[in-house]
Amino acid sequence: MKSANTYPSADGLWTGLRLATDAGVEAAIVVAQGAIRWVGARSALPAEFAELSVHDGGDALVTPGLVDCHTHLVYGGQRANEFAMRLAGATYEEVAKAGGGIVSSVRATREADEDTLFAQAAPRLEQLLADGVCAIEIKSGYGLSLEHERKQLRVARRLGEAYGVTVRTTFLGAHALPPEYTGRSGDYIDLVCREMLPALAAEGLVDAVDVFCERIAFSLAETEQVFQAAKALGLPVKLHAEQLSDMGGAALAARYGALSCDHIEHLSADGIEAMRQSGTVAVLLPGAYYTLRDTHLPPIEALRAAGVPMAVSTDHNPGTSPTLSLLLMVNMACTLFRLTVPEALAGVTVHAARALGLEATHGVITEGMPANFVLWKVRDAAELAYWFGQRPLRTAVRQGRICISFPSPSGRGQGEGLRP
Ligand code: NIG
Ligand code: FE
Repeated sequence: MKSANTYPSADGLWTGLRLATDAGVEAAIVVAQGAIRWVGARSALPAEFAELSVHDGGDALVTPGLVDCHTHLVYGGQRANEFAMRLAGATYEEVAKAGGGIVSSVRATREADEDTLFAQAAPRLEQLLADGVCAIEIKSGYGLSLEHERKQLRVARRLGEAYGVTVRTTFLGAHALPPEYTGRSGDYIDLVCREMLPALAAEGLVDAVDVFCERIAFSLAETEQVFQAAKALGLPVKLHAEQLSDMGGAALAARYGALSCDHIEHLSADGIEAMRQSGTVAVLLPGAYYTLRDTHLPPIEALRAAGVPMAVSTDHNPGTSPTLSLLLMVNMACTLFRLTVPEALAGVTVHAARALGLEATHGVITEGMPANFVLWKVRDAAELAYWFGQRPLRTAVRQGRICISFPSPSGRGQGEGLRP
């Protein structure tokens, strides 16, 4: 790991690129002072940029930097034992009721100090970055007390600084009921709203607020209490909604102008309509769907018909989605959820940026935005969904700096080996 500001500048003229939208034409990108200054067909490059120092893209496909808009990246321990329990027939809810699930990660997270949590999360982040991630959301929710939620969120901030990656922190204090509050859910929600959230927001540790609204977690009324506390502090909300059952959470979240509703396997027609009206993004999490061997598909066709933007994310967490590949989620969004390749790629770029309120700085390659883009050793955008389990990344530019670069003069493709 380097300190973020020691990565080389990406300023100059990037040539030999193919845009996913117009792969037949050589494209070029001009980066100046860390921002996109110009993008278009190489043949249309304005003369004023012709003498800039050249970064040869070697005929690589270029996309916006990927955005992983839903992760629980910072936690102690792991839960492979639950994988085995589920294989033996236990459901996610049964595991949770048996004292496993989120609460077992809470125990391990509370036991770990900040440096330990950082050291455990850093290699996980590195894997996501190697898949082209340039911005990431990191939730708390495994501390469930002021002290331990703070520790998680501080680690999230430190990761962003260390790696020069945009990190959006989300406070998920209402993720599960901590054991010391058993039978006192209302008291815990009061603590979340009156003490934890205001204190952490005052420390600048909270970019958004999330709740796990589910019959094994928090009710609709408790969710609304947290949303009100967020609103009072001027913080945007999002929601783990309708994952295991239709709680009406999406419609509630939409009333609060939520950035996103996530999971949504059991989302109703009313929920879709509410999200459409509020411009809330639907975040699809095929990794959790796959791990839990869920068979209840999210209502993709209805979301598509309503024009609700669909994002795709890893939901990286130790219980239901231990994946560290956003491209694998692109593949699964296509194979399991039947998204088209352009939909899935929009789901990890432009729509994912919007799910984090980052649409002004991430998710597209547009003049005036910070330079966040990725060069891939493939010819066609469809290959990003197709080579599942591989890492075709060649170069990652994050915030105007070249953070990953694999020299590869022969260009691209499977044959040369995807990772030098
Ligand atoms: O997004 N659904 C709730 N939260 C996580 C799972 C967390 C866990 O099991 O540790 C999710 O799937
Ligand atoms: Fe989640």
